[in-house]
Amino acid sequence: MDTIYNLKQVLLTNHDFTTSLVSNATDFTTSPLTYLAMHLVSSLLVVGAAFQAVLGLPDPLREKRDSEIIKRSAESFINQETPIALKNLLCNIGSGGCRVSGAASGVVVASPSKSNPDYWYTWTRDAALVQKLVVDKFTDEYNTTLQSTIQAYAASQAKLQGVSNPSGSLSNGAGLGEPKFMVDLKQFTGEWGRPQRDGPPLRVIALVGYGRWLVSNGYADTAKNIIWPIVKNDLAYAAQYWNNTGFDLWEEVNSSSFFTIAASHRALVEGSAFAKSVGSSCNACDAVAPQVLCFQQSFWNNNGYVVSNLVNYRSGKDVNSILTSIHNFDPAAGCDAKTFQPCSDRALANHKSVVDSMRFWGVNNGRTAGKAAAVGRYSEDVYYTGNPWYLATLAAAEQLYDAIYIWKKQGSITVTATSLAFFKDLVSSVSAGTYSSSSSTYTSIINAVQTYADGFIDVVAQYTPSDGSLTEQFDKNSGAAIGATHLTWSYAAFLSAADRRAGRVPPSWGAASANSLPDSCAASTVAGSYATATATSFPANLTPASTTITPPTQTGCPADHEVLVTFNEKVTTSYGQTVKLVGSIAALGNWAPASGVTLSASKYTSSNPTWYTTIALPQGVSFAYKYVVVNSDGSVRWESDPNRSYAVASTCASTATINDTWR
Ligand SMILES: *[C@@H]1O[C@H](CO)[C@@H](O)[C@H](O)[C@H]1NC(C)=O
Ligand SMILES: *[C@@H]1O[C@H](CO)[C@@H](O)[C@H](O)[C@H]1NC(C)=O
Ligand SMILES: *[C@@H]1O[C@H](CO)[C@@H](O)[C@H](O)[C@H]1NC(C)=O
Ligand SMILES: *[C@@H]1O[C@H](CO)[C@@H](O)[C@H](O)[C@H]1NC(C)=O
Ligand SMILES: *[C@@H]1O[C@H](CO)[C@@H](O)[C@H](O)[C@H]1NC(C)=O
Repeated sequence: MDTIYNLKQVLLTNHDFTTSLVSNATDFTTSPLTYLAMHLVSSLLVVGAAFQAVLGLPDPLREKRDSEIIKRSAESFINQETPIALKNLLCNIGSGGCRVSGAASGVVVASPSKSNPDYWYTWTRDAALVQKLVVDKFTDEYNTTLQSTIQAYAASQAKLQGVSNPSGSLSNGAGLGEPKFMVDLKQFTGEWGRPQRDGPPLRVIALVGYGRWLVSNGYADTAKNIIWPIVKNDLAYAAQYWNNTGFDLWEEVNSSSFFTIAASHRALVEGSAFAKSVGSSCNACDAVAPQVLCFQQSFWNNNGYVVSNLVNYRSGKDVNSILTSIHNFDPAAGCDAKTFQPCSDRALANHKSVVDSMRFWGVNNGRTAGKAAAVGRYSEDVYYTGNPWYLATLAAAEQLYDAIYIWKKQGSITVTATSLAFFKDLVSSVSAGTYSSSSSTYTSIINAVQTYADGFIDVVAQYTPSDGSLTEQFDKNSGAAIGATHLTWSYAAFLSAADRRAGRVPPSWGAASANSLPDSCAASTVAGSYATATATSFPANLTPASTTITPPTQTGCPADHEVLVTFNEKVTTSYGQTVKLVGSIAALGNWAPASGVTLSASKYTSSNPTWYTTIALPQGVSFAYKYVVVNSDGSVRWESDPNRSYAVASTCASTATINDTWR
């Protein structure tokens, strides 16, 4: 099997290796198809030689030879695929994208496929992940095409936030949890797994990436006027709804999802810092973020992996968790396990568990522990009968490239009891301990992890059609490309893995100073106010500044400071009833019970029947309000007159409490 595998490498992907042997003057300007066909023929000429050489070598040298072949294969594939992936990715973004005629400006279409499967929609999650890649590329190297793409995306999302849909509307934020829309930005009214609560935080992360660039190049006003109002809605959503169940990123499980919770934590941390940089603030973010991180810890399972969804009918081993580690990678956070950094012992142990759980597929025959394999979503998957996905296999590579980056940066690798099994698959003699860059163990580990990571790229290379197009999945037995054609997310996943391999990493999101946990976890949420972001036209010529501009440190209270007001209402209720707060301002539903704020009964006891909620309200605002009891049949009982009234202090106080009793 080994030999056949090596032979395939040489045959299918190793162009540097073969062309350098056959010809030094190959013309690389041919189309990918012709080029690959040509390279296949040239490969055949040397297969015999490579085959014999590999067989004839003693084991350690043979292993070295294998890793050299894998490395060259990964490199040549990356060189070839990078321009193809970027071009195809941009082809799926409206309105100018070559494959998405009819899509509105800035809309990221999931795939041009309109049937079997129909992915002719825009998903908030996929779009945000794709745009994050575009933003990272743009901030790495200024490019006006990419900047226009990002600006069109921002404008499209400002509009989309206001589109009422089956999940709800913007008035109480609920509509932001709608997962997918039509490509012309209309609502999608079919049955679906909704809400999905990862969309808003992921959009925060993508937009803040651009917002930060604007601030550090002298365009803080633009960041404040255009980006912040969109981000503010999504942050309010995360602070209000993070502790509710919803559908996971695969749109199947209605529960709590590791990926969603981790994205929410990152967004709240990064969003709060961004708010400060534009002269605003997000008190709700600061209040809630530590609690989200606290809950995030509960997904770790003592058998050494993350249980990706808190349900009991699956193992929980799911690439959800590997995606979490790469999307929350912070190059300034070392190997922190609480934020699940790629090189943390937990994330590495989890990488092994997840990858090993999918080795039973035919396509992985011979790919035993420690050898790169084709990775899908989770082993119990039945969608299209359950297959490897390009983006999942690429994520497995990316996590390892991230880890290598940090190890090299810090000059050491720590192996703990938790991560030992991961490392032993790669360097069998290793034991727990810290290995500095001067040690031979450090070098062995770096080399082995690099080969392992390159191996995942090599798997993708092996099953990528010759025109370089990436679908969603490849067949678990034959490796043939299947599922939605030109999946935008597949291209983004390829490009970010390639960037990490080259040592191009995204900016820090502040994980290192946002990883302390409260003494105990609490289900704290803050209800927010939502408003359609109306400014969507960017000034022309937003060119880079010659030096990075640091925003001024904020002094005093921002003009749009919000106070977290807690309402406690003593009211005896019976099973099936809920209590809502309604009042004269939009945040309280403008007197409409359907749009009011639902209180929590989590502190309710028969001796102290208190319902409560915390709402972020602008300083100085005055309003009238009442509580209502909503019966299970939807009928509403109002408190008796008069209306209650309250004025939020015009100070920089961050919290206030109101104690009421039903009347
Ligand atoms: C900017 O990016 C686009 C899209 O990838 C590319 O076609 C173009 O050549 C780039 N422009 C510059 C000046 O690099
Ligand atoms: C809400 O948070 C609490 C405290 O972390 C946790 O026990 C509970 O499971 C969470 N529920 C959801 C649906 O997130
Ligand atoms: C998802 O689960 C929650 C809580 O278990 C439940 O209230 C809600 O109705 C479910 N949603 C759907 C669409 O099944
Ligand atoms: C309470 O407010 C509502 C809405 O403004 C109003 O219609 C109603 O008359 C008020 N009740 C009293 C007693 O003032
Ligand atoms: C509200 O009640 C809590 C205890 O239930 C008490 O600690 C607090 O001081 C009260 N606040 C006000 C403003 O009455």
